[in-house]
Amino acid sequence: VNITIIDRDGVKHNVNAPTDMAMNLMEVIRSYELAPEGTIGICGGMAMCASCQCYILTDTELPEMQDDEEAMLSEAFYVKDNSRLSCQIPITPEIDGLEVEIAPES
Ligand code: FES
Repeated sequence: VNITIIDRDGVKHNVNAPTDMAMNLMEVIRSYELAPEGTIGICGGMAMCASCQCYILTDTELPEMQDDEEAMLSEAFYVKDNSRLSCQIPITPEIDGLEVEIAPES
């Protein structure tokens, strides 16, 4: 699927992410090296660090937030109404066209 990711320097990247590898958005950001190693995905995708926070810029239908994600975002920095933890967003055909911005490092 096609995803647009704006990095922390404001640069837009258009990436193609595979839907058949059980990846999540945080892993895609890491595999394209769109955020420096050690600044994203610190907890390994367990919804326990918020380093993978992104702002969702499209009205793409995403899986509902689970309690652990909501709890983590309630204590994270730079949280906005459109914040999500990218490790909790699976790469599925439904998210084609998604556009996100990586939240500042905290
Ligand atoms: Fe830690 Fe997403 S990688 S919350």
